[in-house]
Amino acid sequence: MRSAMLEALTLTTESTAPAAMAPQPPAVWTSEQWLAYFRHNAANLMLVPWESGAGVTPTELGEIVDSLKAWQLGETSDGRRLIRTAEKHATRIGDPKFVDVIRLFIAEEQRHGEELGKFLDAAGVPRAKRDLGDSLFRVFRHFLMRMEVWATIVVIIEVHAMLYYAAIRRATGSALLRRICEQILHDEVPHIRFQCERLAIIHQRRNRVFRWMTAAAHRVLFVGITMAVWVGHRRALRAGGFSFRRFWGSAWAQMRKAWRAMNPKVYRWLQ
Ligand SMILES: [Fe+2]
Ligand SMILES: [Fe+2]
Repeated sequence: MRSAMLEALTLTTESTAPAAMAPQPPAVWTSEQWLAYFRHNAANLMLVPWESGAGVTPTELGEIVDSLKAWQLGETSDGRRLIRTAEKHATRIGDPKFVDVIRLFIAEEQRHGEELGKFLDAAGVPRAKRDLGDSLFRVFRHFLMRMEVWATIVVIIEVHAMLYYAAIRRATGSALLRRICEQILHDEVPHIRFQCERLAIIHQRRNRVFRWMTAAAHRVLFVGITMAVWVGHRRALRAGGFSFRRFWGSAWAQMRKAWRAMNPKVYRWLQ
């Protein structure tokens, strides 16, 4: 079932239908389908070798630790504001189960935060306490109460998370940290698809001019976040094999895939 679900998550317009039939674009998943996916994923996690200890050398740790503490904290939010935003959105579109999906999504992010936290504990590193997300939220409070803004920011961050955890995995020989990164990378692929589908739903009825403006705003936000991630985490990213040039190119390549997956035109809509 796992591979069938993951296969379904890879956005494709290829069809398994007989050659004579026109290929069908995919439909966005319903909240029921996403609930089934998240429940299935939670019940089929990779085995994490906690018994092996942190297993990280001081040199490796020195390159990644400050950055890892910040990501660990970022993954740990209690999600109350996101739930409130999702409740408003669910009421507006008449899909109460969407809130349950968001709860399972938040639970996965919290698991990422908890596992990274346990790794820091095992390595004897104190966890970070200052909640930067909270400080930023106060500034952007008004905008972040909209589901579209949440999903847009989250998908951009998740695109960078894919590069970041791949870099951390390459930067360490720790079996424990490598497995934690592998599970996060595995989880983030559907997360990106989930946000992209939500944005496709929201953008579906938008006219061409407004869609163009949305795309322009996305690019400004994306460049800002890419630069901020590089400035804040370049030491760890370099340890994982990224030059600025490679990071910049990879971020654009991944984001272009996400932009394609949030284009309403790539889906089949049931009227
Ligand atoms: Fe995460
Ligand atoms: Fe995620």
